[in-house]
Amino acid sequence: MKNEKLIEKYDKQAKMYENNRANQKLARWRNKIIKNAYGKVLEVGIGAGANFPYYDRDNVEVTGVDFSSEMIKSAKRTAAQFQVKAEFIQADIDELVLEDNSFDCIVSTLSLCSYPDPIVTLNKFNHWCRKDGIILLMEHGLSSNSFLSFGQKMIDPLHKKISGCHCNRNINEIMRNSNLQVDHIERYWSDILYLIWAKPVRS
Ligand SMILES: C[S@@+](CC[C@H](N)C(=O)[O-])C[C@H]1O[C@@H](n2cnc3c(N)ncnc32)[C@H](O)[C@@H]1O
Repeated sequence: MKNEKLIEKYDKQAKMYENNRANQKLARWRNKIIKNAYGKVLEVGIGAGANFPYYDRDNVEVTGVDFSSEMIKSAKRTAAQFQVKAEFIQADIDELVLEDNSFDCIVSTLSLCSYPDPIVTLNKFNHWCRKDGIILLMEHGLSSNSFLSFGQKMIDPLHKKISGCHCNRNINEIMRNSNLQVDHIERYWSDILYLIWAKPVRS
């Protein structure tokens, strides 16, 4: 598997993600977006399974994807704790091949920041999601506040080096350039945090 160094970085962070799972600052937003998930759900970059507490466990079957084996181990424990039906695939999203139209819902939270080309990833969601399905995103990106965005741009190289992810992604532009149709978007924390309800578009 390529990306070995990055995987190692995330493996090392798995405990921290597990400890931060109950982060109350994010709980409200996670609940707001994840409660809309239903049916066969694909959650990409599942991490330590921070969204499991918010799924309606009677109405979802989750397939969690992550390239970090330590994150997957942690997510498995969280799924069991919250009694959510789940299976896991350890894979790099860039190499993952899934059947078209195979999920009712695709979830990504705080993960678009990690992928080399998030537009390519979103376009994969477009294929994997059923045409009447839903794509739910909670992502962080570049603030609309010029002072904050200047800081984000300045620290991005260091941020990427330390955490493995970018803090200067332009979420509006990424969504606009993807094939998805945005139904609803909410922004918080000086427009750093985005909640997005989208759907696939068939050509
Ligand atoms: C910032 S964490 C977010 C975790 C979780 N979604 C959350 O909301 O807390 C990003 C996750 O994506 C995973 N990841 C990053 N790049 C990936 C890739 N190319 N393929 C698969 N997983 C990836 C990391 O291992 C990590 O678990």
